Amino acid sequence: MIKTVLVTGGAGYIGSHTTLALLLAGFNVVVLDNLCNASPESLRRVAQLSDREPVFEKGDIRDRALLDKLLAQHPVQAVLHFAGLKSVGESVAYPLRYYDNNVGGTVTLCQAMAAAGVFTLVFSSSATVYGDPATVPITEDQPAGHTTNPYGRSKFMVEQLLGDLAASDPRWRVALLRYFNPVGAHESGLIGEDPHGIPNNLLPYITQVAVGKLPELAVFGNDYQTIDGTGVRDYIHVVDLAQGHLAALKELLTRTGTHVWNLGTGQGYSVLQVVQAFKAASGQPIPYRTVPRRPGDIAACYADPAKAAAELGWSAKRDLFTMMSDSWRWQKMNPDGYRSGND
Ligand code: NAD
Ligand code: UD1
Repeated sequence: MIKTVLVTGGAGYIGSHTTLALLLAGFNVVVLDNLCNASPESLRRVAQLSDREPVFEKGDIRDRALLDKLLAQHPVQAVLHFAGLKSVGESVAYPLRYYDNNVGGTVTLCQAMAAAGVFTLVFSSSATVYGDPATVPITEDQPAGHTTNPYGRSKFMVEQLLGDLAASDPRWRVALLRYFNPVGAHESGLIGEDPHGIPNNLLPYITQVAVGKLPELAVFGNDYQTIDGTGVRDYIHVVDLAQGHLAALKELLTRTGTHVWNLGTGQGYSVLQVVQAFKAASGQPIPYRTVPRRPGDIAACYADPAKAAAELGWSAKRDLFTMMSDSWRWQKMNPDGYRSGND
């Protein structure tokens, strides 16, 4: 039985939703986050929603002494590792930041875990490790590693280093969760995605257009070989994604070694289908203009989620309409994210 977990990056978008799910499921949660891309307000709201307090330590996963202290203070039996940097463009401009934080940070974390006798780890990987897939839907055994940017390479390197680690010592139990495109927010509208500056990703961009912060959406290309020429992705509700972590944690009780699971819905939607769905869910029109393709983008990427369904007993429940209405509720209630009205 796992009772206490360490959640790195637990104040962030996916980490905060997963921390909430863990608290509601009865786990004790210790969050380590350096707040480089998050606000402590997210955890205050997680506490409000769960009526329980996670332990929060502001600090960095590269700080070995801090990790040693945390693992000595709390009876941690497993780690969910979300902490990392995630902007593709920034990773191209500052690759060392990405290798230091994402790869170096994971090395330090694993060293501290091993020293403390903690060998169960759930890692936030990404469908980006598949690069431009030869076929869709993507199964876990399709070749990975043809990534096109330092962010993607850092994710793939961590997958490999965790594989090497588990091969070297049978005590390790590692889940590599390859997320597709996380969107949406908790149905309360209290926690959600809070990007700094102009968003890079489609959903936060759309919600900021809807709330009047941005004038129009630029659709990156309409000449892909897809249903309407725009890019197709597998959008997954963040609350479903959070549940996938609980399922993986449970499954690791029965397995050692490294295990890969896709966390997606299996359903691809184009940019224009998402725009339409958002309009239907929110009543807000989204003015848009087609611009040239974004370099590095691919035509279509969606999961075959059968392995996670069979082995974890998990599948995504929330449909595109729900993803859109929950994203919109979060944006409307918090037009400036966690900075809205709480000073
Ligand atoms: P996020 O930026 O909201 O969360 C990451 C959290 O980690 C932030 O709270 C940040 O402050 C913290 N952090 C970063 N570096 C740290 C460090 N060195 N020490 C301590 N804390 C640190 O991002 P997210 O969307 O919640 O993503 C979580 C994880 O999932 C990341 O590893 C990301 O690469 C991965 N992922 C995200 C997506 C996505 O679309 N959001 C897709 C695939 C994979
Ligand atoms: C991007 C990252 C990927 C990362 C993922 C989740 C790139 C090249 N890829 O994936 O590494 O794992 O985010 O964080 O950045 N779109 C528009 N207009 C916009 C924004 C997006 O048309 O303003 C389109 C894109 O072309 C794409 C779709 O919307 O077809 C989704 O884009 P996005 O949300 O950025 O996710 P990905 O490109 O799938």
